[in-house]
Amino acid sequence: MIIALVGKGGVGKSTISSQLVRALSKKEIVLAVDADPNSNLCDKLGIEVTGTIGGLRNEIVAHPDMVPESMSKQEYISLHIRQVMTETDRIDMLVMGRPEGEGCYCFTNDVLKHCFRDLIPKYKYAVIDNEAGMEHLSRRVLPRADIMIFVSDPTMVGVRTAGRLAKLADEVHIESDKRILAINNVSGEISDALRQEALSLGFDKVYVMPHDEFIAKAAMDGNVIDVPSDTPFGRAMEELITDLEP
Ligand SMILES: Nc1ncnc2c1ncn2[C@@H]1O[C@H](COP(=O)(O)OP(=O)(O)OP(=O)(O)O)[C@@H](O)[C@H]1O
Ligand SMILES: [Mg+2]
Repeated sequence: MIIALVGKGGVGKSTISSQLVRALSKKEIVLAVDADPNSNLCDKLGIEVTGTIGGLRNEIVAHPDMVPESMSKQEYISLHIRQVMTETDRIDMLVMGRPEGEGCYCFTNDVLKHCFRDLIPKYKYAVIDNEAGMEHLSRRVLPRADIMIFVSDPTMVGVRTAGRLAKLADEVHIESDKRILAINNVSGEISDALRQEALSLGFDKVYVMPHDEFIAKAAMDGNVIDVPSDTPFGRAMEELITDLEP
């Protein structure tokens, strides 16, 4: 099952991704994909990353004879993708990383596209934390996901932006079985106007993810946590996880 998190900057994509990965990894080995060149999912998971796609690309640029003549660089990396993965007990982590030089994002994006074909379907659960904004959607780096979680802050602008991202996903034909809107970091209740707007945007389900002091404190201290399941955020997370199953 591919679960992709999408949304504008700073809304909680990596926070929700990390909580999802940690919860799902209690059941199965999970592939966590940090598809943000400015990656920090690994920090939120407490995983010390040993390699990235961008890093291997830089190595190849420095030593081009690593790659047989009959092969493109993308093909070579796709074949050696396990080399750049960080494998822990329950979580396998693939980090896109930041390549050096011009035009390189296309390169890492292309490798990621290969991964969708070959690597990602091998896992029962793959959680993909995308970079902020539209880039990955518009370039179809993400060709499909079983579940797309559009994360928003609790503002009208935020929710409408999530709606536009979902529309873009439709326009570029990114297939998904379920599209969820997660309005995150909510203090108190959301307003009726925001709820109405959220419900009007065509998502299969709308979640309200409360502001959580455990998350805020862990972010401040740089700690890795499982949000307790008896907090409002923990309960929302549990409901979200239950709903992921078909
Ligand atoms: N429910 C929540 N309660 C408290 N703090 C939260 C909550 N969700 C996110 N945060 C905090 O908001 C900040 C941004 O979250 P996060 O890094 O997950 O966003 P992001 O969408 O991944 O950002 P980026 O676009 O930069 O990748 C972090 O400091 C995080 O701890
Ligand atoms: Mg992030």
